Amino acid sequence: MTLTMQAVRAHRRGGPEQLVHESAPRPEPARGEVLVAVHAASVTAGELEWDASWTDSLDSTGRDRTPVVPSHEVSGVVAEVGAGVTDLAVGDEVYGLIPFTRDGAAAEYAAVPASTLAAKPARLDHDRTAAVPLAALTAWQALVAHAALQPGQHVLVHGGAGGVGTFAVQLATALGGRVTATASARDTEFVTGLGAQRVIDYRSERFEDLVRDTDVVLDLVGGETLDRSWTTLRPGGILISIVQPPDPEKAAAHQVRALFFIVEPDRAGLVAIAELIDEGKLTPVVDRVVPLTETRAAYEALATEHPRGKVVLHVDGQVAA
Ligand SMILES: NC(=O)c1ccc[n+]([C@@H]2O[C@H](COP(=O)([O-])OP(=O)(O)OC[C@H]3O[C@@H](n4cnc5c(N)ncnc54)[C@H](OP(=O)(O)O)[C@@H]3O)[C@@H](O)[C@H]2O)c1
Repeated sequence: MTLTMQAVRAHRRGGPEQLVHESAPRPEPARGEVLVAVHAASVTAGELEWDASWTDSLDSTGRDRTPVVPSHEVSGVVAEVGAGVTDLAVGDEVYGLIPFTRDGAAAEYAAVPASTLAAKPARLDHDRTAAVPLAALTAWQALVAHAALQPGQHVLVHGGAGGVGTFAVQLATALGGRVTATASARDTEFVTGLGAQRVIDYRSERFEDLVRDTDVVLDLVGGETLDRSWTTLRPGGILISIVQPPDPEKAAAHQVRALFFIVEPDRAGLVAIAELIDEGKLTPVVDRVVPLTETRAAYEALATEHPRGKVVLHVDGQVAA
């Protein structure tokens, strides 16, 4: 193996204009890590604006990490195993969400904590697998870890056609929930196809006039959408936002629980998600697959277009080793 690799890196904090495709040192797996030969990675809107993408902390107090490699969702094959790793071996096909405070997977290789990786779903190729980790884990942690969704419960998903929403609608349905979703009118058929029993056009209808007694509201939009959601919940229900912290006083006034969380790398969640994928109950939505050399354009496209589903970087086999 060579000691360098092709990678996309940013040497200065900024937007997509900072991303360059270049030769970079191949990382070495430290204790507890594996080296993954990356087959595919995926691109997340807003990622380059987060402190964690540039420093070693989730907030603004962290140490500068530049040059950084973006794109923290990975699907690939274990190429080398670091000390102390006993549960993964060279040749294993794995996928996962790499912690945002370290280098991502827009490169031929990524050193990744073994505990954040799980076996890749057998049903999907690497490109489609790379579209799974962030959005599916967010939906999983919201509905399973935080809401403890039970069969028969009614879930309102705001933004059902988005990256997280498409997984949330499918997952709530797979868990036996009854799903109402808000989305654009053009996405009604699409979101119904994912399992929603009812889709409300957020531009022409007021969901708070149409929905009552939900057990769970999953807010993937924030702002006034969050604020107008309180009356849709039954007393004792739960509102979960992944966009902003809900107002605790309003939660108390409506006798509901409310929380905000940030998705975390989670092997157990990935294992459960891979099982659901292999059972045909969850399917990622991929807008397009582009080569690693087009990473900058992929980030620019997220800012200017509105892709339906993930933009995936296809990495293996496109550059000489
Ligand atoms: N806390 C966390 O751990 C975490 C994790 C992942 C994502 N996030 C955040 O969660 C949000 C959603 O992420 P995503 O990846 O799912 O975004 P996305 O793919 O851009 O999807 C957003 C969806 O919301 C729809 N939408 C916009 N305004 C709406 C409204 N008023 N009512 C209902 N639907 C509306 C959009 O539809 P149209 O395109 O038709 O307008 C789109 O389908 C983002 O802010 C993201 O940064 C947080």
